[in-house]
Amino acid sequence: MTSATPIPAPPTAPFGTLFTATMSHVVFEDGAWGEPILGPVQPFSFHPAAHVLHYGSACFEGLKAHRGLDNVVRIFRAEAHVARMRQSAEVLCLPVPPQDMLDTMIREVTRASDAEVPAEPGSLYLRPTLVGTEENVGAAAAPSVSALLYVLAGPVGDYFSGGIRPLALAIETVQPRTTPTFGVVKSGANYVMALRPTLAAKKKLGVDQVLFAPGGTVQETGAANFMLIDAGRVVTPALNDNFLHGVTRDSLLRLAVDLGFVVEERDVTVDEVIAWARRSDGEAALTGTAAVLSPVGKLVYNGESIPVGDGGIGEHSMRLRKALTDLHIAAGPDPYGWLTLP
Ligand SMILES: Cc1ncc(COP(=O)(O)O)c(C=O)c1O
Repeated sequence: MTSATPIPAPPTAPFGTLFTATMSHVVFEDGAWGEPILGPVQPFSFHPAAHVLHYGSACFEGLKAHRGLDNVVRIFRAEAHVARMRQSAEVLCLPVPPQDMLDTMIREVTRASDAEVPAEPGSLYLRPTLVGTEENVGAAAAPSVSALLYVLAGPVGDYFSGGIRPLALAIETVQPRTTPTFGVVKSGANYVMALRPTLAAKKKLGVDQVLFAPGGTVQETGAANFMLIDAGRVVTPALNDNFLHGVTRDSLLRLAVDLGFVVEERDVTVDEVIAWARRSDGEAALTGTAAVLSPVGKLVYNGESIPVGDGGIGEHSMRLRKALTDLHIAAGPDPYGWLTLP
């Protein structure tokens, strides 16, 4: 991008509906990956018997590249996202993309999309996707021998419509978000499993999201991790196989320690969440690449609507959020080496 090229404003279109001009794709067949091809975004064609269309052999990632204050675009924690994609592929018995190959594809798409990366709070959302393509409807209990990996990108603004606003969550204590052990996999099947209870809660209770807490122990929402925050502490469920190990969660916990918060990773019960919300200084938030850190202003539980703290945007949540967004735009040092040039 030359200094004369205008920087696009953050898009107002809904998150995920705009795409840049360039993607990268590569095919796995005969036991080997081919050469990734960088080219225009265009439809793929699949045989109707493709494994993914029948047996759900699909996983993806979501990461962002941000335009820094110096106008340079940098990718945030690519290594962690590539590692998680490889883990998802492994659990789904899909061919595992080599670290270097996927990393290079992400960088090439980011570089090719440079002029389309908006200024903060916008960013470039990158969506690596892996699907099984074997043409075989008899392969219900067999892995796909062929696969397609691609990296798509799009300029994004806020994930939740209306910008930063306190979100309302319904607490669900019966249904889990997904099946045990599959929580760590970023597979489309997990999202569709959470869809029906989420739609029902939105319609019936007017909430934004559902906080899944089967048996009274908190997991996460449909697309973000959950944290309790106050002036001195950040409390969040300890990692287990039931929920996605968010890169944003990990980043925020490290920054929280740097900011002087005590971080507690342990079981978090619904009773504790409710008691926390009833405190005047209690804060709660959702965290994720898309959500960044979004404050939670209200919980709906057992038919009762409970404001979190004063129901507004908590100052400590915002302090934590700013530490992360400042890092995204290289406003200060990058002590953990999380930013990489494409
Ligand atoms: C189910 C779920 N949990 C948590 C997260 C947060 O993960 P990350 O911070 O790596 O984006 C996501 C987001 O992408 C998600 O879909």
